Amino acid sequence: MSIAEVHEFAKAIIMEAGERIRSSFSEKWVIETKADANDLVTNIDRETELFFIEKIKTFDSTHKILGEEGMGEKIDSIDGVVWIIDPIDGTMNFIRQHRNFAITIGVYINGIGKLGYIYDVMRDQLYYAKQGQGAYMNEVPLKPLQAISLNKAIIGLNATWVTPNKRIEHEPMIDLVHKVRGTRSYGSAALEIVSVACGRMDAYISLRLSPWDIAGGVVIANEVGAIASNLKNEPINLLKQDTFIVANPTIHSEIIDDYIQLKNENK
Ligand code: IPD
Ligand code: CA
Ligand code: CA
Repeated sequence: MSIAEVHEFAKAIIMEAGERIRSSFSEKWVIETKADANDLVTNIDRETELFFIEKIKTFDSTHKILGEEGMGEKIDSIDGVVWIIDPIDGTMNFIRQHRNFAITIGVYINGIGKLGYIYDVMRDQLYYAKQGQGAYMNEVPLKPLQAISLNKAIIGLNATWVTPNKRIEHEPMIDLVHKVRGTRSYGSAALEIVSVACGRMDAYISLRLSPWDIAGGVVIANEVGAIASNLKNEPINLLKQDTFIVANPTIHSEIIDDYIQLKNENK
């Protein structure tokens, strides 16, 4: 099966899933919590993931599926064709705002990102990329990123990481906030990554993301020249939670170097 065929199939099921999610606004959702009181999930998250799994397994039963809601397989290797799926990224926005959430999917072959999708369901905007063939929004090509300096940059950063928290020292983040022109936080990692790919923001940083939050976005970001890594400047690991940065190439290393230097000075 060719990548072009997988792409046509992926686009079709994402659009169908988006339509199902929009229709669900007339239903009463079941809302539950997961790891903590603010970690929300609905029956629509689960039903959407199940929809993808059933479609993909019918399409090709050898393809593996890693989904946030755990309805795919337990994956301990990235070998073969692996679909990494977040059925609704930004569930809190989905529940409270009825917008600003996305379906996001990455298709990896032996660990290489081949196809990436972020579907902004309420705006009906499908961002996608095929490795080496550019990135698009509703079939309109995204432009390569232009150079920017840190003092003119807009950075996506959740306020959690600038206040004392149990995961990281927050002081280096305060310094970054002072250096840049502005900060934003949209509540959907996928939509924040795609904002960087479109040049609406110049970097997006999180101290804890999972593979399904970033798998699709990284493929899209790479195609416009953005660089994605963890905050140690190591390549993305699709099998574990980690720190994450995606940035315009002119400021990616500068942000990481400043962060590491300040972290060491604070020790
Ligand atoms: C969350 C969103 C949020 C990010 C969290 C993610 P979910 O995904 O992307 O913006 O800050 O870390 O877990 O739970 O809505 O799919
Ligand atoms: Ca997510
Ligand atoms: Ca999710």
